[in-house]
Amino acid sequence: MFSMISRNDPCFCGSGKKWKKCHYPQKAHSQKGLADEYFKKYGIILKNDEQIAGIRKSCQLAAYILKKTCELAKAGVTTNEINDFSHQLHIEANAVPAPLGYGSPPYPKSICTSLNHEICHGIPNDIPLKEGDILNIDVSCILDGFLGDCSAMVTIGKITPEKENVVNVAQQCLMRAIAILRPGLMLCEIGDVIEDYAGEHGCSVVNQFVGHGVGLQFHEPPQVPHHRNETQIPLAPGMTFTIEPMINAGVRDGYIDSENHWTAYTKDGKPSAQWEHTLLVTDSGCEILTLLED
Ligand code: MF3
Ligand code: CO
Repeated sequence: MFSMISRNDPCFCGSGKKWKKCHYPQKAHSQKGLADEYFKKYGIILKNDEQIAGIRKSCQLAAYILKKTCELAKAGVTTNEINDFSHQLHIEANAVPAPLGYGSPPYPKSICTSLNHEICHGIPNDIPLKEGDILNIDVSCILDGFLGDCSAMVTIGKITPEKENVVNVAQQCLMRAIAILRPGLMLCEIGDVIEDYAGEHGCSVVNQFVGHGVGLQFHEPPQVPHHRNETQIPLAPGMTFTIEPMINAGVRDGYIDSENHWTAYTKDGKPSAQWEHTLLVTDSGCEILTLLED
């Protein structure tokens, strides 16, 4: 569904040789060579077919739980109720919510719920949602040892034009970045697309948090910046990572909650929005692993 690289195009590894003479994906031994090279150079694990099948399943579950959880988010409902419902869906599917107990200090809940001017890592609480709120729900699950990670925005009733804009711009940033993914694309080009689009629509791009490799662990190499950057890593088939732009209506700067040490807020108190998918780079483009199949 995305752009193609043909056999006679220059190889994405930067060797200057034609793709068919270099990292063309037919020969089993050259594929192994590429995986070794990516692990040595960048610490990136190119996933094999078996791992991809497991990650795909976990991503589909994360997307399903996210959808169900978003449906619950209405005025009067608390983020703790949303958290508990989401936790239950993980248990029923024999999965584990990756955030619970993660990091230091241990993250206390099963999902992140980031409200209004919270950039990310909002912690569910007992305050009911109300008309005019915008909420990011972030679901990361572990199924059979494989990780899937996705998030989406929910809007509660009538919201301000400023909030509506930042929610839509963040979603466009994600989908436009996904649309350019293919083997050989430099990782920094993701940041170019996002920074350009956000800037053209009056928004800023958070540079304090990044997307990440995911699949065998929650956070693995590479880091995926959404802001303008210079990361010269060519994408290769078998890479699995998230893109999860955090877009602010005002300044890009944020600060972290001094009590819970997790939640990031915008410095100017203006709203922030985020959407996230887990992606797989394929031979010809990419697959959105957390796009729910029906
Ligand atoms: N998608 C978010 C991330 O990759 C999920 C954070 S969960 C937390 O950082 F436990 F780290 F908060
Ligand atoms: Co993530």
